[in-house]
Amino acid sequence: MPTHETVNWGFIGAGGLATGTTAKSLHNSKNATLYAAAARDKNRAQALSPKVAYDSYEKLIQDPQVDAVYISLNNDAHLPWIIKSLDAGKHVLCEKPMVMNAGDTITAYAHAQDKGLSLVEAVWSLWHPRTQRLQELVSSNAIGSPTNYLGTFTFDGVAQGNYRLDPAKGGGALYDVGIYPLHALVALLSEATNYTVTLAHDEKIGEQVDMTMKAQFNFNNTDCKGSGAIVASFAMHPSQRFVLKGTEGEITLPGDQAFTSHNQVSELTITSEGNTSTETFAAVDPYQLMFENMSDQISGNGGWLPNPWQSVQVAKIVDQTFKLAQASAELP
Ligand SMILES: NC(=O)c1ccc[n+]([C@@H]2O[C@H](COP(=O)([O-])OP(=O)(O)OC[C@H]3O[C@@H](n4cnc5c(N)ncnc54)[C@H](OP(=O)(O)O)[C@@H]3O)[C@@H](O)[C@H]2O)c1
Repeated sequence: MPTHETVNWGFIGAGGLATGTTAKSLHNSKNATLYAAAARDKNRAQALSPKVAYDSYEKLIQDPQVDAVYISLNNDAHLPWIIKSLDAGKHVLCEKPMVMNAGDTITAYAHAQDKGLSLVEAVWSLWHPRTQRLQELVSSNAIGSPTNYLGTFTFDGVAQGNYRLDPAKGGGALYDVGIYPLHALVALLSEATNYTVTLAHDEKIGEQVDMTMKAQFNFNNTDCKGSGAIVASFAMHPSQRFVLKGTEGEITLPGDQAFTSHNQVSELTITSEGNTSTETFAAVDPYQLMFENMSDQISGNGGWLPNPWQSVQVAKIVDQTFKLAQASAELP
């Protein structure tokens, strides 16, 4: 538990997300301080306005004043810096996708448990009050048992040179945006749910990563049985869709920010027993809620965090999707 008044955070990496969004969210958090930031170029770390800037991630994790680190590096660098940070005694919040496969996800959580530290995947949409309401509605059987799911997250235009187009750096649409619709569903169904990917199609469109990934899967547990589909793309008109049908109704997240509602009013529409109603949610910054909840948890003041099994479950679906897409591509 930290000895200072608020939790001291260290940012590992000062890329687009940290610079454009998350540093500001942390500065706005009531129980957290952006104590340190590290980037290969110290000036970029300094630009996040921390108390201390470093030109090396290693120096940051060795700073005894840092309680928790937030990792926003390219995806392949997440696992090594999670392990090093845990070994240095820091709690870890790591950007999505936390690591590249289910085996490494299990390894990372086991390491955190061994060290008695928190490790959390920063799927920011999960902290949005609309997402939490969705969970309340589904668990109270407001639409009966889930039977069909459609989740899409597409946009157009990744700049050449960005790590998202580099397979060695964990690029590709499934890792980048496909995990949002997967996390949204997995959070709604029980840990015991079994997912089987039945179809996966990967379009590379002249690149070395999946520019578009389409997947279909079945899900079942003792309470429900159904099927789902996701589409993730770097090469389609920007849009996000969430539709969950159940035996007695349907929930949709209207608008184009099903997974990225940020500082804007959002809505949820539910049809249940033939009646349709819309709930409205005030504008919030879910990144700020994420930092505040994790800081509360570190300080022993409660704080809601997603369960590690959700990340393992999503990583297993991702593994199956890549495997099936590759097998389909090899068919004559
Ligand atoms: N939750 C969200 O809304 C959201 C949105 C966007 C991205 N993300 C996630 O955040 C992470 C970073 O995304 P981003 O958009 O911020 O990426 P970005 O702008 O390309 O920044 C990449 C980061 O990786 C670091 N890096 C370390 N070694 C590198 C190398 N050899 N080549 C290139 N970069 C290197 C850079 O560190 P230095 O600062 O030290 O140079 C920089 O901090 C990814 O995991 C992504 O999935 C999440």
